[in-house]
Amino acid sequence: MKKRIMSGMRPTGKLHLGHYLGVIDNWVKLQDEYDCFYQVADWHALTTKYDNTEDLKQNVIDIVSDWLACGIDPERSTVYLQSLVPETAELHIYLSMITPQNWVERDPTLKDMAKILKSKEGFASQINYGLMGYPVLMTADILLFNADFVPVGIDQVAHVELTRDIARRFNNVYHTDFFKEPQPLLNNCSLICGLDGNKMGKSFNNDIKISDTAEVTAKKVMSAITDRSRMRKDDLGHPDECEVAFKYWKIFGTETEINTVRCECEKGQRGCADCKRQLGAKINERMAEIRDKRSYYEQHPEIVEEIIREGSKKAQIEAQKILGEVRNLVRMF
Ligand code: TRP
Ligand code: SF4
Repeated sequence: MKKRIMSGMRPTGKLHLGHYLGVIDNWVKLQDEYDCFYQVADWHALTTKYDNTEDLKQNVIDIVSDWLACGIDPERSTVYLQSLVPETAELHIYLSMITPQNWVERDPTLKDMAKILKSKEGFASQINYGLMGYPVLMTADILLFNADFVPVGIDQVAHVELTRDIARRFNNVYHTDFFKEPQPLLNNCSLICGLDGNKMGKSFNNDIKISDTAEVTAKKVMSAITDRSRMRKDDLGHPDECEVAFKYWKIFGTETEINTVRCECEKGQRGCADCKRQLGAKINERMAEIRDKRSYYEQHPEIVEEIIREGSKKAQIEAQKILGEVRNLVRMF
């Protein structure tokens, strides 16, 4: 029996290279060894975007298109939509009964979200009941498949810790060892920064999207920050102080290429514009196949929708098994 993986993402728009290198590429590799469940967390999106749902459907299609393009394979992995597996909501109810309020209140991610909300006006500044349940809902996602591992970014690790706590509490309360305590799986790849040197994020306008064309990508790369002390092409450069471009080289270049860039830069034999033109081409080379697949799915949203519906049916069958057992353990009617 293969061990189980469960992970998810909120559908908040097209994904960028940070998502690809930081999370999805890892998901793709895990498919060989594990039984994987990959979920689009549309209810989680609603916890903060409940009043802004006009793009929700398209965002679901977009995110799954990105996943498929990157190599998530619906033949091997179960790709599904949270709200099409409503068993999630029922498990959320049982778990919410046994989760102390202060466990969710100390959740750091929730605290950050609360800070953002507080800066808004009127009703939008309220923290709703549903948002408070965010980490419990995520726990339901994970436990609904009794997953062994949860591959996530560092920002989600606290949630997985809470999942372990809730699983343990459930087992104690109902005198069982039914739920496993899932472990977070961190990806060892270093985080790619945005074009301006800050964290890559779509709201910062410093990202390169998986779905960006080769032209757009090349143009964006030309705007990447370099060694700020360099004015002219033959000034001696400092790759380690080249805030963005050299970091990208270290991610996308071969060892030989990285060494060449370093030497030429240090000796003043390489201009930043040329350097970034080459870098853009390098990134485009790596993204070419993904981009072709991405545009195929963009032209065939009905195929993407079918994959989501089929995957959700498959997920539901598994979910019903686990939920049936939970209902027994809680001694529901
Ligand atoms: N909270 C996660 C995020 O914002 C998304 C998510 C929802 C998730 N359910 C999950 C991640 C279950 C891992 C497992 O990125
Ligand atoms: Fe950075 Fe390349 Fe310019 Fe050197 S030549 S500072 S590595 S962009």
